[in-house]
Amino acid sequence: MPGIQAGEGEKRRSLHGHWSSRMAFILAVTGSAVGLGNIWKFPYVAGQNGGGAFVLVYLVCVLLIGMPVMMSEILIGRRGRRNPIATMALLGEEEGSSPRWRLIGGMGVLAGILILSYYSVIAGWTLAYAFKSVSGSFAGAGPAEISAHFAEFVSSWELVGLCHTLFMSLTILVVARGVERGLERAVRFMVPALLVLMLALLGYSINSGFFGEGLAFMFTPDFGKLTGDSVLAAMGQAFFSLSIGMGAIMAYGAYLPEETSIMGTSAAVVTADTLIAILAGLMIFPLVLANGLDPAEGPGLVFHTLPLAFGQMTGGVLFATLFFVLLSFAAWTSAIGLMEPAVAWVVEHRHRSRAEAAMIIGVLIWALGFGSVLSFNVLSDITFIKGTIFDNFDHLTSNIMLPLSGVFIAIFAGWIMCRNSTAEELGGAGRLYRLWRMLARFVAPVGILLVFLKAIGLLPELS
Ligand code: PHE
Repeated sequence: MPGIQAGEGEKRRSLHGHWSSRMAFILAVTGSAVGLGNIWKFPYVAGQNGGGAFVLVYLVCVLLIGMPVMMSEILIGRRGRRNPIATMALLGEEEGSSPRWRLIGGMGVLAGILILSYYSVIAGWTLAYAFKSVSGSFAGAGPAEISAHFAEFVSSWELVGLCHTLFMSLTILVVARGVERGLERAVRFMVPALLVLMLALLGYSINSGFFGEGLAFMFTPDFGKLTGDSVLAAMGQAFFSLSIGMGAIMAYGAYLPEETSIMGTSAAVVTADTLIAILAGLMIFPLVLANGLDPAEGPGLVFHTLPLAFGQMTGGVLFATLFFVLLSFAAWTSAIGLMEPAVAWVVEHRHRSRAEAAMIIGVLIWALGFGSVLSFNVLSDITFIKGTIFDNFDHLTSNIMLPLSGVFIAIFAGWIMCRNSTAEELGGAGRLYRLWRMLARFVAPVGILLVFLKAIGLLPELS
């Protein structure tokens, strides 16, 4: 986004400038979508929920719910051209409904703050693992050693807290400076580089001798394993991984030039994000099975599996370092998207400078993050509802807040906004437009509702 645009033309302009090109927008949204969600979270949640059936539900959710909600978010964002809260209020009024739609924007801003608080902790692990990799900590290590290493690391709240602090500082720094130039450049290089490394790792997995088993684990659905909770987890993961339901994409949409195709852009981003998640699964599960690790072990999964592979391959130190550095980058570009809605709101409504706003919000998130830092050590025995503080933050945000906002975003775009407004944003009322509208009006809201009902046990079991 170059400098701030002057004045209001006949079309509304964003207060924070515009993306320099369609490519810049795709890169920024991809940077927000591709992150720990694909590489750290997807494999461990798929593992906890039994593999195949979960992956299938995930893919269905991405297509039937994720895609239309993402398009809705971008079009709402572009039409409103403000932070998500102001945009929802403005469009609510403009479309003859109520400015109270701002509450949906508010829930998104809150979800972003809560997510970043624990996201930054895991991103801190990634940074730490980049340092460990350079120092050759994993060279030649076996499964037991790697496990012990991880356990020792997360048991030190000081160390985990320090890494979380480092990561949050980096995020605040970039958000404070108005990121976009740097962000565009970082993503342009990071996503392809990450892909190349992942393909190399995939090659290693294929040679592990357990590739067939890994494939079977990921793609043979056993519907008996599909509980209400795992369906909810699959849907929550779709929202989390695509960065939708919290205003990040809406905030980015606000900076999108008029002529860019929202459908084409969404399709590109959704495809890239999904491919990277599947690729992560394909590289991790064969290694899990080959080394007798437990696919359901939880958030430590990638940190147990990949160092093992790196420890054994030639050039492993270099590969490992590159991988964890790139993953930290991917987390960084997502973290920026998580903070942007809240920061944009403080800038517009509290009349603070960008730097001040980033500082205020950033420190708040940093402090909240200690709930998750301590979940893996000092407070690991304090569990309620879904587990530790970390587990509850994650469940509340991904599985409840994001899909809940998603219902309202789809309803807003599908029912509250008039046909003319949405057709104008989506480039005419052709076949694809009608498909989108049907998905946004019926399929996505009803689908999300059914998943919620299933999770609280109000729908019968599938098998
Ligand atoms: N999609 C990001 C990831 O997969 C996380 C994220 C969620 C970012 C919501 C922004 C908003 O890592």
